[in-house]
Amino acid sequence: MQAIMSGEERTSASRELTLLFERAKGCRQCQIAESRQNFVFGEGNAQAEFLVIGEAPGAEEDASGRPFVGRSGQLLDKILQAAGFSRQEVYICNILKCRPPGNRNPLQGEIESCLPWLLGQLQIVKPKVILILGKVAANTIFGNKLSLGAMRGKVTRWKEFDCFITYHPAALLRNPEWKKGCWEDIQLMMGHYKKLCGKNSAAEHEH
Ligand code: URA
Repeated sequence: MQAIMSGEERTSASRELTLLFERAKGCRQCQIAESRQNFVFGEGNAQAEFLVIGEAPGAEEDASGRPFVGRSGQLLDKILQAAGFSRQEVYICNILKCRPPGNRNPLQGEIESCLPWLLGQLQIVKPKVILILGKVAANTIFGNKLSLGAMRGKVTRWKEFDCFITYHPAALLRNPEWKKGCWEDIQLMMGHYKKLCGKNSAAEHEH
């Protein structure tokens, strides 16, 4: 459930996001801009209390300009739905806004050039809770080299945000036996979210 806000506040956040997108979409700060089809900025509720950060667009996202629309995205939608969220209710974005060729891991220089766009999005959306998908995104956000196992299963404060880390949906597609752990992470996150934002979580009622 979103906090009550005036139409004016809502429009102002979406307007700011649109302005940021207009500034960002022609970005040529790193070499992967050369091979992209589309700049995949991110999408969703400009004043979402819950925001999802993935790693980087894949082929389908590059082709459509939208985050998480391929197989990983379909699984993410199911995870969100199980947690009680619609896709429209949340904001979804990535660390990198362009697809690394062949879906390779982002390079440090690419991350550094792209991070200001993500930080700008966070400043506008101001989520209360962030879900970080996968080790690469989490290592980038926290500036560490910890394993996913060392980072999940708890809340980690970063700037003014409460962050939860879980498996990337692409990893879950390759390793379905990790889905149970992911669901535990989501339940933990939703318990916290409910305390902060008062949403009734579907995650609390299912096993
Ligand atoms: N994987 C990601 O990390 N992000 C996307 O947008 C799609 C797949």
